[in-house]
Amino acid sequence: MKKIPYSKQFIDQSDIDAVVDVLRSPNLTQGPKIDSFEQSIVDYTGAKYAVAVSSCTAGLHMSCIALNVGKNNNLVTSPITFVSSANSAIYCGADVILSDIDVNTGCMNIEDLENTLDEFENIKAVMPVHYSGSTVDMVSLKKLCSGKKISIIEDCAHALGSSYASGEKVGSCKYSDVAVFSFHPVKSITSGEGGVITTNNEQVYRKLLRLRSHGINKTDDEFVNNKNAFTGDMKNNWYYEMSELGYHYRLTDIQSALGHSQMKKLEIFMKKRHQLVEKYDMAFKNEKKIALLRNNSKLSSNHLYVIKINFSDLKLSRAYFQKKLSDKGIFTQVHYIPLHLHPYLSKKLLNTSNCSESIKFYDQAISIPLYYDLSFQEQEFVIENIKELVS
Ligand SMILES: Cc1ncc(COP(=O)(O)O)c(C=O)c1O
Repeated sequence: MKKIPYSKQFIDQSDIDAVVDVLRSPNLTQGPKIDSFEQSIVDYTGAKYAVAVSSCTAGLHMSCIALNVGKNNNLVTSPITFVSSANSAIYCGADVILSDIDVNTGCMNIEDLENTLDEFENIKAVMPVHYSGSTVDMVSLKKLCSGKKISIIEDCAHALGSSYASGEKVGSCKYSDVAVFSFHPVKSITSGEGGVITTNNEQVYRKLLRLRSHGINKTDDEFVNNKNAFTGDMKNNWYYEMSELGYHYRLTDIQSALGHSQMKKLEIFMKKRHQLVEKYDMAFKNEKKIALLRNNSKLSSNHLYVIKINFSDLKLSRAYFQKKLSDKGIFTQVHYIPLHLHPYLSKKLLNTSNCSESIKFYDQAISIPLYYDLSFQEQEFVIENIKELVS
């Protein structure tokens, strides 16, 4: 029986060649492929700067540090996200506040956010999550935040390829201080593991470069100990300076070469995902027992295809539904368990109430297979089996 996962990567010969070229080159890491991968992200998103990192989680953590999220202040994020969104602020000693979602999109609800920002003090940053590739209303979010001098860190793990309702590409940072992407294999493109941060702020960019590599500064014009750094006018070749506490969050050249090669296929990946989504939409639009998500972006990366089923009305548990599909080789997933239901976070988060829409969403949501090389025939099989189960 062929297995149909909920998502997976697509790797072709050009990806393999790109990786092998690096393996045969002198630089497995800290070489030129990192720059070319970053440049491809800059070219695609339109942001001024890109910093490739070992994961989106690392990128979110570094972004929190760079924007001074830390002890005695708070970060607001969505309950419907992966744990990294909250953890990145907790690593810095900050507290995390949840602001509920719009159950129709899975993204942060702007009215709830407005109330959250009024209710709590010392909010340093908001971290919207572009759930499944659908975008948060960033125009309104930015308006709310700029009046209160709150930074914006976009969790774009799902959204490489998406454009906001206003048309700009996600990652352009038109409405945010930084945007952070993930290249885990189930995402729009992959580098194995990996992530990238985009920003238009040069100071933040320079800080991110240092944080990525142990807090080490290699920029001549920023050295503190010039006596050790220079012999006469000449910079000493061995010299580098650790100017702050940083991390080892670098992406290798091997991963960067894969990421760069995958970027060349992003448009064809997106086109196929779009076709698959259109077919799912058509197939389910008249199914009374299945609700579909509303997409608020101009263009969605279509990272996930989430259907919502009222399992209690259907008198069928989600576990049984999932098991019945997996018996046929069809694998599904739930995105996400609301953050405040995780044992650690339930004690750690500043608020765990006011998340009723997230709970409703969690009870009903299930992500069904969607990835570049899912064939239309396999998709038909998925549709038939789902329809049979709900009928
Ligand atoms: C919304 C969201 N944020 C952050 C992450 C973390 O990404 P990474 O695995 O690259 O650290 C993920 C990964 O699944 C995610 O879905």
